[in-house]
Amino acid sequence: MKILNINASSNRQSSISSTYANKLINRIKEVEVDTTVVNRHTTYSDLPFLNEEMLASLFVKGERTDEQKKVLEISQQLVEELLEADTIVIASPIYNFSVPASLKAYFDLVARAGLTFQYTENGPVGLLKNKKAYVVVSSGGTEIDSEIDFAGRYIQHFLGFIGISDVEMIKLDQLMFDAETKQETAQKQISQITKQLQTI
Ligand SMILES: Cc1cc2nc3c(=O)[nH]c(=O)nc-3n(C[C@H](O)[C@H](O)[C@H](O)COP(=O)(O)O)c2cc1C
Repeated sequence: MKILNINASSNRQSSISSTYANKLINRIKEVEVDTTVVNRHTTYSDLPFLNEEMLASLFVKGERTDEQKKVLEISQQLVEELLEADTIVIASPIYNFSVPASLKAYFDLVARAGLTFQYTENGPVGLLKNKKAYVVVSSGGTEIDSEIDFAGRYIQHFLGFIGISDVEMIKLDQLMFDAETKQETAQKQISQITKQLQTI
């Protein structure tokens, strides 16, 4: 298995979302010994926001110049990481009811017409096929899938947009109310996931 581990928490030392993403990845590695993992930390990758130069390089008529290719180098690299992976593990806390800004910046860089999605007569169609995503989302008080959750549903929607519809959410939400139960449930879900992998 080829895993792309996308971590969006600003907390490098003790992030709960990345802790559980790592637990999942470590269990997968025990089941599938030839698993490889590429780590992409959105907060610590110096990801640029889309600016004028980038927009001009993205939307070109005909061939891109070498300069325009250079401007898109990081976007290209992130897209290649996604294309190469068969399994995507995203760890994201909820920040101010949505995803961390670095994860939004990452999504802006991998949403590439012709590479990860394409426009058709019937609207945009995702181009990433046969990929599975596990999304670990943590929060203090915001309930995932509630009206004020603009993170969990957004991540799922974005993944669908680029063609990844097989998405399993691991919810570590509302940790300020009952962290213990949430963590136990997440742990059980991880065991279940890896049990299913063993039977495939
Ligand atoms: C800047 C910031 C904004 C936050 N905003 C929210 C929020 O809108 N809703 C919420 O439930 N928790 C919020 N939290 C709490 C985190 O989502 C929560 O502590 C989460 O478990 C952190 O996950 P991590 O340890 O993986 O970084 C916020 C935390 C920070 C640091």
